[in-house]
Amino acid sequence: MSTFNGVDLPIARSSQANIAGISSTPRREAIESNHLNLLIVDDERSIRDGCREVAQALGFTTYIADNSEHAFRVLETASIDVVLLDLRLPGPGGLEILRDVKRRRPETVVVVITGYATVQSAVQAMKNGAYDYVTKPFNIEELRMLLERVLGHLQLTSENRLLREQVKSKQGFGSIIGRSPEMEKLYRIISKAAHSTHPVLVLGESGTGKELVARSIHFSGPYRDKPFIPVDCGSLVPTLIESELFGYVKGAFTGAARAKDGLLTIADGGTVFLDEIGELPVDLQSKLLRALQEKEIRPVGGTKAIPINVRILAATNKDLEQCVAQGTFRRDLYFRLNVLTLRIPPLRERKQDILLLAGHFLERLARATGVQRNISDEALKLLLAYDFPGNIRELENSIERACALTSGPTISVPDLPTSIQNWKLQNQGNPVTSVDPETILPLIELEKQAILQAIDHVHGDKLEAAKLLGIGKTTLYRKLKEYGAEF
Ligand SMILES: Nc1ncnc2c1ncn2[C@@H]1O[C@H](COP(=O)(O)OP(=O)(O)OP(=O)(O)O)[C@@H](O)[C@H]1O
Ligand SMILES: [Mg+2]
Repeated sequence: MSTFNGVDLPIARSSQANIAGISSTPRREAIESNHLNLLIVDDERSIRDGCREVAQALGFTTYIADNSEHAFRVLETASIDVVLLDLRLPGPGGLEILRDVKRRRPETVVVVITGYATVQSAVQAMKNGAYDYVTKPFNIEELRMLLERVLGHLQLTSENRLLREQVKSKQGFGSIIGRSPEMEKLYRIISKAAHSTHPVLVLGESGTGKELVARSIHFSGPYRDKPFIPVDCGSLVPTLIESELFGYVKGAFTGAARAKDGLLTIADGGTVFLDEIGELPVDLQSKLLRALQEKEIRPVGGTKAIPINVRILAATNKDLEQCVAQGTFRRDLYFRLNVLTLRIPPLRERKQDILLLAGHFLERLARATGVQRNISDEALKLLLAYDFPGNIRELENSIERACALTSGPTISVPDLPTSIQNWKLQNQGNPVTSVDPETILPLIELEKQAILQAIDHVHGDKLEAAKLLGIGKTTLYRKLKEYGAEF
């Protein structure tokens, strides 16, 4: 058994740059950083080295302190996510450090290292907020498993934190507005996607917010400082998409006076968002697939492969499965891009978001123009009833247009686009198509109900009722007589 008992260490020790007893060790090239900082506090060098190797292998950036004083100094200068803490340190001791860590940053995970003889103090440490403890001697596997558990815990809490931060002002997720259950589900997936590097396929009808969601995935993630590059595969001619994505060498084609890097290279460490991926020509689909599989590209006209480090997000409003079945989209590329799928529901399936979105667009316009506007009840009813085939983009345009048209502070029905006004006529104003035959009443009965309701409405004033109904007073009396109604 390979144990960390101060004597028997099976893993190689690497030299460490030691600055005043504290060292920050850069991660090795082959290991992907998990963007978390881990501090090892132990006075035994073999323990420190062993823990560091295991932590680095899991992607932590490690800091070392061999006594309490050094530990306090690291905690003051670096943002530490995890502490591996020997309880039996000379000086103030581990428990003191634990209290200090928890006071500064309560979410820091502290794992206590202790000897068999001092398990009791480990229990004490747990009561003071330590996450877990290991007893010396412990083996590499034990420590690795424990740190993996810590990683899972931190990832979960950071996703939750992100979700909590983003769902600020109860409107939605960052710049994405909407509180419908469908959107809440989407936010959870975005939070997860933001922390992974896998490709994501964003699906949704036109105007549902596919680009907004793609941006949110990139800008909520750890690589938000790296580029986010959208490429519209639908509007560029195929040869241009190729040279844009993969770059070209000098003389590759007429006009290529100089070599140019492709966007897949330029995005280095960031995201390329392939919008309208369903429009990508089949030969370029093969080239993209190769680039994703081999993580390298060959510029147009070039023979040398160039390594790339980029995350791919793709979007389409097409039914890609159908495209695969029809042979216009490569199945292998579809699977490659479809590691995570995000389907944005159309607005008509989450009508409760219409109100929030309309309010958001009005608010945004008010900020830009300095004029605060509202929507009349009638206009709002119409917006809530409408189907929005153009989804949020159509709602956004309708509000902007209405604000430009209205003369006062209130948007009313005539300010709305005719498509929305006509939709009311077609879907609400035509009783022939909307009335259930079971509920149709004879005309004479309808007339009677109209007259009695009108009289009731004006509290028995027959002259007023006749006026409302557009008939003469004598006609009204005659009708009442026919009904046998006594007034
Ligand atoms: N949930 C939302 N909250 C606020 N604004 C939104 C939301 N969804 C979309 N929008 C806005 O609607 C407009 C259309 O969004 P976007 O361009 O992301 O849609 P899309 O699905 O990519 O459309 P297309 O298929 O036409 O390319 C943008 O102005 C965007 O800011
Ligand atoms: Mg788009």
